[in-house]
Amino acid sequence: MSKLLRNKSLKDLNTFAIECKAKHYYELNNEIEAFEFIADISSIPKPIYYLGGGANTLFTQNYKGSIVRMNIKGITLINEDENYYYVEANAGEVWTDFVDYCVANNYYGAENLVAIPGTVGAAPIQNIGAYGVEAKDIIHEVYFYDIDGFMLKKYSNKSCDFAYRNSIFKNELKGNILITKVVFKLSKTPDFKLSYGSISNELEKRNITDPNIKDLADTISDIRSQKLPDITEIGNAGSFFKNPIVEVAFADNLRKEFPELVSYPHTDGYVKLAAGWLIDNAGLKGYQIGGAAVHQNQALVIINKDNASGKDIVALSHYIQKEILEIYNVNLTPEVIFV
Ligand code: EPU
Repeated sequence: MSKLLRNKSLKDLNTFAIECKAKHYYELNNEIEAFEFIADISSIPKPIYYLGGGANTLFTQNYKGSIVRMNIKGITLINEDENYYYVEANAGEVWTDFVDYCVANNYYGAENLVAIPGTVGAAPIQNIGAYGVEAKDIIHEVYFYDIDGFMLKKYSNKSCDFAYRNSIFKNELKGNILITKVVFKLSKTPDFKLSYGSISNELEKRNITDPNIKDLADTISDIRSQKLPDITEIGNAGSFFKNPIVEVAFADNLRKEFPELVSYPHTDGYVKLAAGWLIDNAGLKGYQIGGAAVHQNQALVIINKDNASGKDIVALSHYIQKEILEIYNVNLTPEVIFV
């Protein structure tokens, strides 16, 4: 059974680098520890919060229940067929290590998801995405404990109900699962997605006309680092809000007043508005409450500028939501999970 730590500081375990403490803390380092933990779940102080890389979690106060950190490592090629490689990665594996492994081996499909903080186990929950690709595009199967039922289950991609920054794990199964590993399906032939944002421009600037997987991963990594603050230097959790999905007619109306409004096609009849543009255009870049501020290079990112508390970040996010509602009549929903 994994060892219980009391009053454990979580500062190094959340990318916002917020100082807070967990009354009870457990780390699951292998499958046996995970099994024993689930078997003994009735004796674990509640509520329980399962933590991956802490890249999408905002601790708003000390946690009175138990924080459980999934830390099972390992990446293995388990199968291949004519067109695909099947790679199994354990939930505690660092996401960037998984992407780097795919890039180094010419397993195609994960390259646009380079340099995203967090763990493999968190990727399906949030259906992480960037530069025209989402985790759902390469996830084959997800293994998890159904905690109440004390059963290890396997869901196919289809059963995960993936949508934009959403999945069954954030809805029906929320709070009752512990993801242990993910199997990815990676192509043997490249089908590079170069159309998002400035990817093609950046490749051109580098005189790369026929990019290989490493060229693409390096280029996207550099584009990200121009806009997104490095979590090892400035605490943040990437995009704080989701890009809101609105009806085409609503966006068309809004564009009359704001001709520069940025939107992307979504499903039939809907578009995704760029929340970063909405916040930027509202003049909120650099706006600060306590130690929390809107990032200067990417308005969708809230940073821990100066020893912010979780409450500073919550207050700033509420202020942004209020302003955006007043100016554009648009509701912003956090992507980050408040704990
Ligand atoms: N924009 C501005 N000002 C800003 C920020 C953005 O005008 O301060 C404009 C940009 O010029 C661009 C548009 O808004 O025209 C969209 O910006 P960007 O391409 O940077 O992407 P985003 O919509 O802000 C999303 C994801 C990111 C992902 C990027 C690239 C969400 C919530 N965020 O951001 O994901 O890296 O696209 O694909 O969907 C994350 O989820 O943590 C994350 C970083």
